[in-house]
Amino acid sequence: MKILSIESSCDETSAAVVEKTGNVITVLSNSTATSLSLHAKTGGIIPENAAREQVKWIIPVVVHALTQSENIDIHSINADVYKTAAEKIKKDIDAIAITYGPGLIGSLFIGVETAKTLSVVLNKPLVPVNHLLAHIFANFINEKNKEPQYPFIGLIVSGGHTDIVLFKSISDYTWLGGTRDDAAGEALDKIGRILGLSYPAGPEIEERAQKVKTTSIHFTSPLLHEDSYDFSFSGLKSEVLRFTQKHKTLSDTLKNEICFATQKAIFDVLINKTLTAAQRHNCKSVLLGGGVSANKTLRNNFENHIKKENMSISLFAPEKKYCTDNAAMIGSYALMDYKPLPWNTIKATPELYFS
Ligand code: KG4
Ligand code: ZN
Repeated sequence: MKILSIESSCDETSAAVVEKTGNVITVLSNSTATSLSLHAKTGGIIPENAAREQVKWIIPVVVHALTQSENIDIHSINADVYKTAAEKIKKDIDAIAITYGPGLIGSLFIGVETAKTLSVVLNKPLVPVNHLLAHIFANFINEKNKEPQYPFIGLIVSGGHTDIVLFKSISDYTWLGGTRDDAAGEALDKIGRILGLSYPAGPEIEERAQKVKTTSIHFTSPLLHEDSYDFSFSGLKSEVLRFTQKHKTLSDTLKNEICFATQKAIFDVLINKTLTAAQRHNCKSVLLGGGVSANKTLRNNFENHIKKENMSISLFAPEKKYCTDNAAMIGSYALMDYKPLPWNTIKATPELYFS
Protein backbone atom coordinates (compact mmCIF):
# COMPACT_ATOMS: atom_id res chain seq x y z
CA MET A 1 0.00 0.00 0.00
CA LYS A 2 1.25 3.48 -0.89
CA ILE A 3 0.27 6.64 0.96
CA LEU A 4 0.74 10.30 0.11
CA SER A 5 1.17 12.11 3.42
CA ILE A 6 1.11 15.78 4.30
CA GLU A 7 2.47 17.57 7.38
CA SER A 8 1.84 21.28 7.94
CA SER A 9 1.41 21.68 11.70
CA CYS A 10 3.97 24.40 12.30
CA ASP A 11 6.75 25.93 10.22
CA GLU A 12 7.57 22.99 7.94
CA THR A 13 5.51 22.15 4.87
CA SER A 14 6.18 18.54 4.00
CA ALA A 15 4.81 15.81 1.74
CA ALA A 16 5.95 12.23 1.37
CA VAL A 17 5.17 9.01 -0.42
CA VAL A 18 5.53 6.05 1.93
CA GLU A 19 5.01 2.36 1.21
CA LYS A 20 4.38 -0.67 3.38
CA THR A 21 5.40 -4.11 2.16
CA GLY A 22 4.89 -6.85 4.73
CA ASN A 23 6.02 -5.19 7.93
CA VAL A 24 8.58 -2.93 6.33
CA ILE A 25 7.87 0.76 5.87
CA THR A 26 9.86 2.46 3.15
CA VAL A 27 9.98 6.16 2.41
CA LEU A 28 9.91 6.64 -1.36
CA SER A 29 10.11 10.42 -1.16
CA ASN A 30 10.02 13.07 1.52
CA SER A 31 9.97 16.67 0.45
CA THR A 32 10.11 19.48 3.02
CA ALA A 33 10.08 23.25 2.69
CA THR A 34 10.82 25.13 5.87
CA SER A 35 10.18 28.73 6.80
CA LEU A 36 12.83 28.59 9.54
CA SER A 37 15.03 31.25 7.98
CA LEU A 38 12.04 33.60 8.02
CA HIS A 39 11.41 32.84 11.71
CA ALA A 40 15.12 33.27 12.48
CA LYS A 41 14.66 36.95 11.57
CA THR A 42 11.96 37.36 14.22
CA GLY A 43 13.69 35.07 16.76
CA GLY A 44 10.73 32.69 16.83
CA ILE A 45 7.61 31.64 14.97
CA ILE A 46 4.93 34.20 14.19
CA PRO A 47 1.89 31.99 13.45
CA GLU A 48 0.51 34.16 10.66
CA ASN A 49 3.85 34.18 8.86
CA ALA A 50 4.06 30.39 9.21
CA ALA A 51 0.56 29.98 7.71
CA ARG A 52 1.36 32.25 4.78
CA GLU A 53 4.45 30.17 4.04
CA GLN A 54 2.35 26.98 4.21
CA VAL A 55 0.09 28.42 1.49
CA LYS A 56 3.12 29.14 -0.67
CA TRP A 57 4.68 25.68 -0.37
CA ILE A 58 1.87 23.16 0.01
CA ILE A 59 1.35 22.44 -3.70
CA PRO A 60 5.04 22.47 -4.69
CA VAL A 61 5.98 19.98 -1.93
CA VAL A 62 3.11 17.64 -2.83
CA VAL A 63 4.12 17.73 -6.50
CA HIS A 64 7.77 17.30 -5.58
CA ALA A 65 7.03 14.29 -3.37
CA LEU A 66 4.83 12.67 -6.01
CA THR A 67 7.33 13.03 -8.80
CA GLN A 68 10.01 11.62 -6.49
CA SER A 69 12.69 13.46 -8.30
CA GLU A 70 15.68 14.99 -6.59
CA ASN A 71 16.54 17.00 -9.67
CA ILE A 72 13.32 18.98 -9.92
CA ASP A 73 13.86 22.45 -8.57
CA ILE A 74 10.98 23.00 -6.19
CA HIS A 75 11.09 26.73 -7.02
CA SER A 76 10.42 26.23 -10.74
CA ILE A 77 8.12 23.28 -11.36
CA ASN A 78 6.95 23.22 -14.98
CA ALA A 79 3.66 22.10 -16.56
CA ASP A 80 5.00 18.63 -17.47
CA VAL A 81 5.87 17.95 -13.84
CA TYR A 82 2.39 18.97 -12.67
CA LYS A 83 0.95 16.57 -15.26
CA THR A 84 3.21 13.72 -14.09
CA ALA A 85 2.24 14.40 -10.47
CA ALA A 86 -1.47 14.34 -11.34
CA GLU A 87 -1.09 11.01 -13.15
CA LYS A 88 0.93 9.51 -10.28
CA ILE A 89 -1.52 10.45 -7.58
CA LYS A 90 -4.40 8.96 -9.57
CA LYS A 91 -2.63 5.70 -10.44
CA ASP A 92 -0.07 4.98 -7.72
CA ILE A 93 -1.48 6.36 -4.50
CA ASP A 94 -3.91 4.28 -2.44
CA ALA A 95 -4.70 6.79 0.34
CA ILE A 96 -3.85 10.19 1.78
CA ALA A 97 -2.65 10.86 5.34
CA ILE A 98 -2.76 14.21 7.06
CA THR A 99 -1.60 15.73 10.36
CA TYR A 100 -4.74 17.11 12.02
CA GLY A 101 -3.09 18.28 15.26
CA PRO A 102 -1.63 19.46 17.49
CA GLY A 103 -0.13 22.60 16.00
CA LEU A 104 -0.84 26.12 14.86
CA ILE A 105 -4.41 26.54 13.63
CA GLY A 106 -3.52 28.49 10.47
CA SER A 107 -0.78 26.07 9.47
CA LEU A 108 -2.90 23.00 10.18
CA PHE A 109 -5.83 24.32 8.16
CA ILE A 110 -3.78 24.55 5.00
CA GLY A 111 -2.63 20.94 5.10
CA VAL A 112 -5.96 19.55 6.27
CA GLU A 113 -8.03 21.35 3.63
CA THR A 114 -5.56 20.45 0.86
CA ALA A 115 -5.67 16.78 1.91
CA LYS A 116 -9.49 16.78 2.07
CA THR A 117 -9.72 18.27 -1.41
CA LEU A 118 -7.33 15.70 -2.87
CA SER A 119 -9.18 12.90 -1.09
CA VAL A 120 -12.63 13.95 -2.34
CA VAL A 121 -11.65 14.84 -5.90
CA LEU A 122 -9.57 11.69 -6.39
CA ASN A 123 -11.79 9.42 -4.30
CA LYS A 124 -8.92 8.27 -2.04
CA PRO A 125 -9.38 7.32 1.63
CA LEU A 126 -8.19 9.97 4.10
CA VAL A 127 -6.33 9.05 7.32
CA PRO A 128 -6.02 11.70 10.07
CA VAL A 129 -2.78 11.42 12.09
CA ASN A 130 -1.79 12.78 15.52
CA HIS A 131 1.56 14.55 15.02
CA LEU A 132 2.87 13.52 18.47
CA LEU A 133 2.26 9.81 17.94
CA ALA A 134 3.88 10.06 14.51
CA HIS A 135 7.07 11.44 16.09
CA ILE A 136 7.41 8.25 18.16
CA PHE A 137 6.47 5.85 15.35
CA ALA A 138 9.10 7.46 13.09
CA ASN A 139 11.28 4.84 14.77
CA PHE A 140 9.65 2.14 12.63
CA ILE A 141 10.68 3.69 9.32
CA ASN A 142 13.08 1.40 7.42
CA GLU A 143 13.28 -0.84 10.51
CA LYS A 144 13.99 -4.34 9.18
CA ASN A 145 15.57 -6.29 11.99
CA LYS A 146 15.63 -4.81 15.45
CA GLU A 147 12.03 -3.85 16.15
CA PRO A 148 11.04 -2.07 19.35
CA GLN A 149 9.14 -4.35 21.74
CA TYR A 150 5.81 -3.53 23.41
CA PRO A 151 5.22 -2.32 26.03
CA PHE A 152 7.59 0.58 25.46
CA ILE A 153 8.10 4.11 26.72
CA GLY A 154 7.98 6.95 24.21
CA LEU A 155 9.68 10.24 24.99
CA ILE A 156 8.57 13.09 22.75
CA VAL A 157 11.00 15.98 22.91
CA SER A 158 10.32 18.75 20.46
CA GLY A 159 9.89 22.51 20.25
CA GLY A 160 6.30 22.27 21.46
CA HIS A 161 6.19 19.10 23.57
CA THR A 162 7.95 17.07 26.25
CA ASP A 163 5.90 13.98 27.09
CA ILE A 164 6.47 10.52 28.51
CA VAL A 165 3.97 8.00 27.16
CA LEU A 166 3.54 4.28 27.88
CA PHE A 167 2.57 2.27 24.78
CA LYS A 168 1.04 -1.19 25.18
CA SER A 169 0.24 -1.21 21.46
CA ILE A 170 -0.04 1.40 18.72
CA SER A 171 -3.57 2.27 19.82
CA ASP A 172 -3.32 1.53 23.55
CA TYR A 173 -1.27 4.20 25.24
CA THR A 174 -1.22 6.18 28.49
CA TRP A 175 0.27 9.61 29.01
CA LEU A 176 2.44 9.44 32.13
CA GLY A 177 3.64 13.01 32.36
CA GLY A 178 4.96 16.03 30.55
CA THR A 179 6.11 19.60 30.87
CA ARG A 180 4.25 22.04 33.07
CA ASP A 181 5.55 25.00 31.06
CA ASP A 182 8.23 25.24 28.34
CA ALA A 183 9.06 22.19 26.23
CA ALA A 184 12.69 21.00 26.13
CA GLY A 185 13.26 22.36 22.61
CA GLU A 186 11.54 25.61 23.50
CA ALA A 187 13.90 25.99 26.48
CA LEU A 188 16.91 25.40 24.22
CA ASP A 189 15.59 27.95 21.72
CA LYS A 190 14.92 30.58 24.43
CA ILE A 191 18.32 30.06 26.06
CA GLY A 192 19.87 30.27 22.60
CA ARG A 193 18.20 33.64 22.19
CA ILE A 194 19.73 34.85 25.49
CA LEU A 195 23.13 33.77 24.11
CA GLY A 196 22.51 35.51 20.77
CA LEU A 197 22.32 32.27 18.77
CA SER A 198 20.08 31.98 15.76
CA TYR A 199 16.67 30.28 15.84
CA PRO A 200 16.16 27.36 16.30
CA ALA A 201 19.10 27.09 18.67
CA GLY A 202 19.08 23.33 19.42
CA PRO A 203 21.60 22.31 16.73
CA GLU A 204 24.05 25.15 17.56
CA ILE A 205 23.79 24.46 21.29
CA GLU A 206 24.68 20.83 20.53
CA GLU A 207 27.64 21.88 18.37
CA ARG A 208 28.97 24.35 20.93
CA ALA A 209 28.55 21.92 23.84
CA GLN A 210 30.56 19.30 21.95
CA LYS A 211 33.62 21.58 22.14
CA VAL A 212 33.55 21.49 25.96
CA LYS A 213 35.32 18.76 27.96
CA THR A 214 34.47 20.03 31.42
CA THR A 215 33.09 23.17 33.06
CA SER A 216 32.51 24.50 36.54
CA ILE A 217 29.16 25.98 35.43
CA HIS A 218 26.22 24.08 36.84
CA PHE A 219 22.53 24.76 36.25
CA THR A 220 19.76 23.09 38.22
CA SER A 221 18.15 20.11 36.55
CA PRO A 222 14.50 21.03 37.19
CA LEU A 223 12.32 18.54 39.11
CA LEU A 224 15.09 15.92 38.89
CA HIS A 225 14.40 14.64 42.38
CA GLU A 226 10.62 14.90 42.31
CA ASP A 227 8.94 11.51 42.02
CA SER A 228 6.71 12.32 39.08
CA TYR A 229 6.97 12.35 35.30
CA ASP A 230 6.55 16.12 35.20
CA PHE A 231 9.05 18.52 33.68
CA SER A 232 9.47 22.27 34.02
CA PHE A 233 12.03 24.18 32.02
CA SER A 234 11.03 27.83 32.36
CA GLY A 235 13.04 28.26 35.60
CA LEU A 236 16.17 27.05 33.84
CA LYS A 237 15.82 29.83 31.29
CA SER A 238 15.69 32.39 34.13
CA GLU A 239 18.69 30.79 35.83
CA VAL A 240 20.73 31.05 32.63
CA LEU A 241 19.60 34.65 32.16
CA ARG A 242 20.70 35.58 35.70
CA PHE A 243 24.04 33.87 35.10
CA THR A 244 24.69 35.76 31.85
CA GLN A 245 23.73 39.08 33.47
CA LYS A 246 26.64 38.67 35.88
CA HIS A 247 29.06 38.80 32.94
CA LYS A 248 29.79 41.98 31.00
CA THR A 249 30.56 40.08 27.83
CA LEU A 250 30.07 36.49 26.86
CA SER A 251 33.19 35.06 25.21
CA ASP A 252 32.78 32.22 22.76
CA THR A 253 34.28 29.80 25.29
CA LEU A 254 31.88 30.93 28.00
CA LYS A 255 28.93 30.55 25.60
CA ASN A 256 30.07 27.02 24.80
CA GLU A 257 30.25 26.17 28.50
CA ILE A 258 26.76 27.60 29.08
CA CYS A 259 25.50 25.41 26.22
CA PHE A 260 27.15 22.37 27.80
CA ALA A 261 25.66 23.08 31.25
CA THR A 262 22.23 23.82 29.72
CA GLN A 263 22.15 20.54 27.83
CA LYS A 264 23.27 18.66 30.94
CA ALA A 265 20.51 20.20 33.08
CA ILE A 266 17.83 19.37 30.49
CA PHE A 267 19.11 15.96 29.45
CA ASP A 268 19.74 14.62 32.97
CA VAL A 269 16.10 15.02 33.94
CA LEU A 270 14.81 13.69 30.59
CA ILE A 271 16.97 10.57 30.89
CA ASN A 272 16.29 9.98 34.55
CA LYS A 273 12.50 10.18 34.33
CA THR A 274 12.21 8.26 31.05
CA LEU A 275 14.31 5.35 32.27
CA THR A 276 12.52 5.29 35.63
CA ALA A 277 9.23 5.02 33.74
CA ALA A 278 10.63 2.21 31.59
CA GLN A 279 11.74 0.22 34.64
CA ARG A 280 8.53 0.73 36.60
CA HIS A 281 6.43 -0.42 33.65
CA ASN A 282 8.72 -3.33 32.69
CA CYS A 283 9.56 -1.87 29.30
CA LYS A 284 12.50 -3.27 27.37
CA SER A 285 12.43 -0.53 24.73
CA VAL A 286 12.55 3.26 24.93
CA LEU A 287 11.70 5.25 21.81
CA LEU A 288 12.71 8.88 21.39
CA GLY A 289 11.07 11.25 18.92
CA GLY A 290 10.86 14.94 18.02
CA GLY A 291 13.43 17.54 17.03
CA VAL A 292 15.52 17.34 20.22
CA SER A 293 15.96 13.58 19.76
CA ALA A 294 18.25 14.45 16.83
CA ASN A 295 20.80 15.46 19.49
CA LYS A 296 23.71 12.98 19.58
CA THR A 297 24.71 13.90 23.13
CA LEU A 298 21.19 13.12 24.35
CA ARG A 299 21.31 9.73 22.64
CA ASN A 300 24.83 8.96 23.96
CA ASN A 301 23.95 10.03 27.49
CA PHE A 302 20.89 7.78 27.40
CA GLU A 303 23.03 4.83 26.24
CA ASN A 304 25.70 5.55 28.88
CA HIS A 305 23.12 5.71 31.66
CA ILE A 306 21.54 2.42 30.53
CA LYS A 307 24.99 0.76 30.53
CA LYS A 308 26.09 2.26 33.83
CA GLU A 309 22.94 1.12 35.59
CA ASN A 310 23.03 -2.29 33.90
CA MET A 311 19.49 -1.90 32.56
CA SER A 312 18.22 -4.32 29.92
CA ILE A 313 16.67 -1.57 27.82
CA SER A 314 17.17 -0.91 24.10
CA LEU A 315 17.13 2.71 23.00
CA PHE A 316 15.62 3.72 19.66
CA ALA A 317 15.78 7.10 17.96
CA PRO A 318 14.64 7.92 14.43
CA GLU A 319 17.09 8.72 11.64
CA LYS A 320 18.06 12.36 12.07
CA LYS A 321 15.99 13.52 9.08
CA TYR A 322 12.88 11.94 10.63
CA CYS A 323 13.36 13.60 14.05
CA THR A 324 12.32 17.11 13.08
CA ASP A 325 8.92 17.66 11.49
CA ASN A 326 8.44 15.67 8.28
CA ALA A 327 5.63 14.02 6.33
CA ALA A 328 7.32 10.60 6.13
CA MET A 329 6.49 9.98 9.80
CA ILE A 330 2.84 10.90 9.13
CA GLY A 331 2.59 8.43 6.25
CA SER A 332 4.34 5.72 8.26
CA TYR A 333 1.98 6.12 11.18
CA ALA A 334 -1.04 5.97 8.85
CA LEU A 335 0.28 2.74 7.33
CA MET A 336 0.81 1.18 10.75
CA ASP A 337 -2.57 2.23 12.14
CA TYR A 338 -4.68 2.50 9.01
CA LYS A 339 -7.94 4.17 10.05
CA PRO A 340 -9.47 6.30 7.28
CA LEU A 341 -12.39 8.56 8.16
CA PRO A 342 -14.95 10.48 6.08
CA TRP A 343 -13.48 13.84 5.04
CA ASN A 344 -16.19 15.87 6.78
CA THR A 345 -15.41 14.34 10.19
CA ILE A 346 -11.76 15.42 10.08
CA LYS A 347 -10.97 18.81 11.62
CA ALA A 348 -7.75 20.70 12.22
CA THR A 349 -7.36 20.34 16.01
CA PRO A 350 -4.62 22.61 17.43
CA GLU A 351 -5.13 21.41 21.01
CA LEU A 352 -5.07 17.68 20.19
CA TYR A 353 -3.19 15.67 22.79
CA PHE A 354 -3.13 12.01 23.79
CA SER A 355 -6.73 10.94 23.67
O1 KG4 B 1 9.92 18.25 16.21
P1 KG4 B 1 10.28 19.63 15.78
O2 KG4 B 1 10.87 19.80 14.41
O3 KG4 B 1 9.06 20.60 15.86
C1 KG4 B 1 8.06 20.50 16.81
O4 KG4 B 1 7.16 19.64 16.65
O5 KG4 B 1 8.16 21.28 17.80
O6 KG4 B 1 11.29 20.19 16.91
C2 KG4 B 1 11.91 21.43 16.81
C3 KG4 B 1 12.82 21.61 18.02
C4 KG4 B 1 13.43 23.01 18.14
O7 KG4 B 1 13.22 23.47 19.46
C5 KG4 B 1 14.92 22.78 17.88
O8 KG4 B 1 15.77 23.68 18.57
C6 KG4 B 1 15.09 21.36 18.36
O9 KG4 B 1 13.91 20.69 17.97
N1 KG4 B 1 16.26 20.68 17.75
C7 KG4 B 1 17.32 20.25 18.45
C8 KG4 B 1 18.22 19.70 17.52
N2 KG4 B 1 17.66 19.80 16.28
C9 KG4 B 1 16.44 20.41 16.44
N3 KG4 B 1 17.58 20.32 19.77
C10 KG4 B 1 18.77 19.81 20.19
N4 KG4 B 1 19.68 19.28 19.36
C11 KG4 B 1 19.46 19.19 18.03
N5 KG4 B 1 20.36 18.66 17.23
ZN1 ZN C 1 6.95 17.99 15.76
